[in-house]
Amino acid sequence: MAENVRVKNIGLRGVMVADTKISFIDGEKGILIYRGYRIEELAQRSSFMETAYLLLQGILPSTRQLEDFSREVIEARSIPGFILESFRRWPKEAHPMDILQASIPLLAMADPELSTETREANVRKAIRIIARVPGLVGAWDRIRQGLEPLPPKSHLSHAANFLWQLQGVEPDAEIARDLDTCLLLHADHTFNASTFACREVVSTQAHMYAGVAAGVGALSGSLHGGANVQVMKMLRELESEKDIPAWVKRQLSQGRKIMGMGHAVYKTMDPRAKFLKEMGQRLGKKFGREKWPQLSDQIEKAAIEEFAKEGRTTIRPNVDFYSAPVYHLMGIPADLMTAIFAMSRVAGWCAHIIEEKFAEAQEKPALYRPEAEYMGQYCGLMGCTYEPIQARS
Ligand SMILES: CC(C)(COP(=O)(O)OP(=O)(O)OC[C@H]1O[C@@H](n2cnc3c(N)ncnc32)[C@H](O)[C@@H]1OP(=O)(O)O)[C@@H](O)C(=O)NCCC(=O)NCCS
Repeated sequence: MAENVRVKNIGLRGVMVADTKISFIDGEKGILIYRGYRIEELAQRSSFMETAYLLLQGILPSTRQLEDFSREVIEARSIPGFILESFRRWPKEAHPMDILQASIPLLAMADPELSTETREANVRKAIRIIARVPGLVGAWDRIRQGLEPLPPKSHLSHAANFLWQLQGVEPDAEIARDLDTCLLLHADHTFNASTFACREVVSTQAHMYAGVAAGVGALSGSLHGGANVQVMKMLRELESEKDIPAWVKRQLSQGRKIMGMGHAVYKTMDPRAKFLKEMGQRLGKKFGREKWPQLSDQIEKAAIEEFAKEGRTTIRPNVDFYSAPVYHLMGIPADLMTAIFAMSRVAGWCAHIIEEKFAEAQEKPALYRPEAEYMGQYCGLMGCTYEPIQARS
């Protein structure tokens, strides 16, 4: 790396830390590519299952390969009984992301191939994780309400089965298809904070579940996946607000952020947000609840106008800005929204974990071990004099 390039205290923005063959973003042009394929093409023509296969295996599957992969996922959906038993004893007010993060090591305990570190075994582990995360989310939501968890239905798609296990009703085909598209759109996003967390953890040769648990933790924060919950809070707060531009102005003048806007990489509208915006408008019409997409649109316009006054022309809606109203229209509780993101992103995390473990984009595996410049007390190489506690003032 060239000398004098500032790489510290900037959250690693713009710093290349590894090679990857999984996804690519052009932040200026608003382009996202998974394994060579534009996200727009995949959203229109593919499915979450096919995209998960693409991310994990690097190629689009044949009909047979997709059937086998989907069958393996469906067969792995059941949640081990001891995990459901644990859920019954956990505090009902616990946050679903904490529950999810705590559940991933429990899934590890139930994995018969936990310590088998071949690529094939890791793909099978990925299949089990992708298959079970929706069931964990659905079961927790039901148990916390005093309801019984529901068994998966093998004739339902990944998204439809999740809605069934959550809501106890098989969703209509359009909603299931829309949720499937949401999952596909969130499935990977290069070296975002949670993916980097997963890769950093498994670079120590820790197993896949240890990496995924770290990913869930990183995703939960409100600057990352947790932003969709904050967006929903904002929409609720503004439900009866008459003057959105004035609210936006106040928010910014008080140094607060407009959640769901801005991105570390995109300097234009997030390509995923465009799909979700259109989906929200369509679902709003379908359910006669157009106020939600309209409110989002008003906030977007007012914020862009206000940012422009400060010369900030690159802060645009990100994926969370429009996923929140979409999930709300699907009847998903606000505090589950980040867990829905995780249900999808596990596909990308597992693909990155495999790439990291097997050095698929670089010469050999490398343990992440950055450095930090020491800015603390320093008394020379001999160290400071240790005063016994009684002698300290
Ligand atoms: C995601 C995010 C952290 C990316 O930020 P970034 O551009 O890499 O870096 P910063 O956070 O330093 O933002 C740069 C500047 O734009 C401002 N900014 C960025 N997003 C903003 C937002 N949503 N509302 C108000 N101001 C924003 C920052 O305050 C900062 O201002 P400063 O230069 O005066 O300090 C940031 O846009 C954000 O916090 N957005 C809201 C949370 C969110 O939606 N997260 C989900 C991301 S997918």
